[in-house]
Amino acid sequence: MIIDSHAHLDYPELSDDLSGVLMRAHEAGVDRVISIGVKLSTADRPRAIAEAHDNVWFSVGVHPHEAANEDLACDTAAFLKAADHPKCVAIGEAGLDYHYDFAPRDRQADSFRAQIAAARELDLPIIVHAREADDDMANIIEEEMEKGAFTGVLHCFSSGPELARRAIDVGFYVSFSGILTFKSADEIRQVAMTTPENRILVETDAPYLAPVPMRGKSNEPAYTRHTLSKLAEIRGQSESDMIAVTRANTLRLFSRMEA
Ligand code: NI
Repeated sequence: MIIDSHAHLDYPELSDDLSGVLMRAHEAGVDRVISIGVKLSTADRPRAIAEAHDNVWFSVGVHPHEAANEDLACDTAAFLKAADHPKCVAIGEAGLDYHYDFAPRDRQADSFRAQIAAARELDLPIIVHAREADDDMANIIEEEMEKGAFTGVLHCFSSGPELARRAIDVGFYVSFSGILTFKSADEIRQVAMTTPENRILVETDAPYLAPVPMRGKSNEPAYTRHTLSKLAEIRGQSESDMIAVTRANTLRLFSRMEA
């Protein structure tokens, strides 16, 4: 079955009907979800959902949008503490967003590096949000890799091919969302076609970015199925192959999710 490697189950669009959301996911062949943290100050929310549901895991992170609002955004120890839980499978989402620039860029970078340090220390992957920041993102990942190995994923991939290449070269994975089904996304589809098979993941980023034919609706984990189908079509592989491949990759990367 399919794993949705990135959803925000604690957002009201999803949490208000969580049992319905998880039931529809199961009916669509999506049996596991990673619920992604975006603030330390609300880290208890995805954690509580993971504690209440056998097939949900969670991550702890500060999104670049929140880097200025969160007092502890650059405090590695705070991430280590919040991630100390058997169902915490990753640090993030963290990264750089130069499209919105909701926090100063140096603060975004400092928070991102603090979270990489936590990921490295805990031997957990980092979930990376990158928007319109390709060069700085690739440079930080490469610089940090020199300080000590870590692993991670470019989530909801929407950057250029060069960032994908540089991240894959240092061992990263690339996760594709519903954007893959959007008419204008030829460049993203090109990256999806050429990413090595053992580095591809799928996700919804729900409640955002519902794939075609659900575009415009609130997204939910069940719709990972549409992105998976598009990925199979682009790569000329069967859906069952693509499900097996992305599942194995997800379990390898998020190795704290027991198989
Ligand atoms: Ni997200």
